[in-house]
Amino acid sequence: MTLAELLPSTGCSTEPVLEDGLWPDGTRLAGQDLVIGGLPATQLAARFGTPCQVLDERTVRARARAFRTALPDAEVVFAGKSLPCPEVYRWMAQEGLSLDVSSAGELALARAAGFPARRIVMHGNVKTAEDLKAALEYGVSRIVVDSFDEITQLGALATHGQEVMIRVTPGVDAHTHAKIATGVEDQKFGFSLASGAALEAILRVVEQPSLKLVGLHCHIGSQVKHVASYEEAVRRMVGLIASCGTRIGQLDLGGGFCAPYLRGDPDFDLAGFAHRVQGALNYECALHRVPPPRLLVEPGRSIVANAGVTLYRVCAVKESARTFVAVDGGMSDNPRPSLYGAKYAVRLVGRGGKPKPVTVVGRHCEAGDVLAEDVLLPRDVHAGDLLAVPATGAYHHALASNYNQVCRPPVIAVRDGVARPIVRRETEEDLLRRYV
Ligand code: LLP
Repeated sequence: MTLAELLPSTGCSTEPVLEDGLWPDGTRLAGQDLVIGGLPATQLAARFGTPCQVLDERTVRARARAFRTALPDAEVVFAGKSLPCPEVYRWMAQEGLSLDVSSAGELALARAAGFPARRIVMHGNVKTAEDLKAALEYGVSRIVVDSFDEITQLGALATHGQEVMIRVTPGVDAHTHAKIATGVEDQKFGFSLASGAALEAILRVVEQPSLKLVGLHCHIGSQVKHVASYEEAVRRMVGLIASCGTRIGQLDLGGGFCAPYLRGDPDFDLAGFAHRVQGALNYECALHRVPPPRLLVEPGRSIVANAGVTLYRVCAVKESARTFVAVDGGMSDNPRPSLYGAKYAVRLVGRGGKPKPVTVVGRHCEAGDVLAEDVLLPRDVHAGDLLAVPATGAYHHALASNYNQVCRPPVIAVRDGVARPIVRRETEEDLLRRYV
C-alpha cells in the first residue's frame, strides 16, 4: 500500500482514520485524542510517562476466549514468552487456558501467578538442569523434549512417570521470516521427521522408565498466515503417529497464528483453522486407522499483539534527505524492526495537521535503530508530540533490553476507564542493583 492510499480519498481531511484490527478492541478517536480501554492516550502518557506500553485487558481476554470457543475440544496453551507477566498469566488461568513456559524464569512468573502446574507445559531447545529441576519440583504437567541429551538427562532427574511430549521438525515451510521459521529442516529445533530422528526419539523416551510419552509437538513458525501450512503439519505428524506403533494421545501444533501490524494485513482465519485442521486430523487418523489424538494449540502473538499500544514522546526532529523523528524509546523496547524487518504503523495523538512521510527513530547508538519508515505524521511534528504505535503487545516487553542502560518501560493494563501498572517502569536503582 502506498502512502497516497493511506490518505483519505477526498484529500481534504488531514487525519488518517483509525486502522481496522490493529488497535485494541473499542479503541476510538475522541477529537484528536485516542481512547484505549476507556482512557485518553494523552492522560495515560501524562500519568505514567513515556515510553509506556498500554495493554487492554478486555482485548486479551476476548482473544483468549475466541480460541477456546473456536476449538472447544482442544487444549489452548498461552505462549508465555510472548508477554511474560504474572498478571497476564492470571488472566489466562481465569480464561481456562494452559501456559507454555520455556525457562525456569518464565516458570517463576507462572508460580508467582499461582498458575496451576497441571496446566503448564515446558518448552525449549535447551533446558538447563536448573530449568528441568524447577519444572519437576513445581510438577509441570508436560515437558516437551528437544534433544537426545535432554531425554537422558530428564530420564535421570525424573522419579516417576513424568509426562513428556517430543518436539518434531515436520519439514513444513510456513512461509514466514527465516528467523522465526521453525518447521523446516536444518535448524536447531526439534527432532527431524525426515531423517528418522523423531522416530528414534519416540523409542528412547519409551525406554526411559521414569518418563511417560503422552504426545508429539511441532511449531512450524511465527506470524504464519496460511491454514494450509498447519494442515500439512497435521498430515505429516499423523503419518509419524501411525508409523511409531505407540499410542499418542496428544498432538500439539504449536502457535504462530499471524496478527496484523499494518493497515490491510490479514487477521488469522481462526474459524477456518479450527474447521480445516480438525477435519484434516480426523481424515488422516481414519486413513491411517489410529485414534485421533487430542489437539493442543499454543497461541501467543494472536492473543496479545493487538491488545498493546506503545506511547512515545518525540524528543527531536531532524531534517536531512528525509525527516527523522526521534523518540524517547527505540530498539531497547522494540528490537523487532532490526531483527525481522518488522513494520509498524504510527499515529500522532493529541493534535492534527497536514501529513508528510517521516522516519521514526529511537534513541540508541545504532544507525539501525529505526522504529518505522515512511509513516505519515503532521508536517510540523515537533519535540513534545505524543506518538502511538499499535500491535506492540507481543514480543515487545518480552524482548526489551537495557541497551545504553535505558530503563525498560512499564506495562499499563487498562480496562473500562481504569489503568494500573502490571509491570512497573524500571529505575536506575534496578539497573545498579546488578553491578558489583
Ligand atoms: N509455541 C512454541 C513452542 C513457540 O516457540 C512459540 C514462539 C509459540 C508457541 C508462540 O508463537 P506465536 O503464536 O506467538 O507466534 N520474537 C519473535 C517471535 C518468536 C516466536 C518464538 N516462539 C517475534 O517478535 O516475531
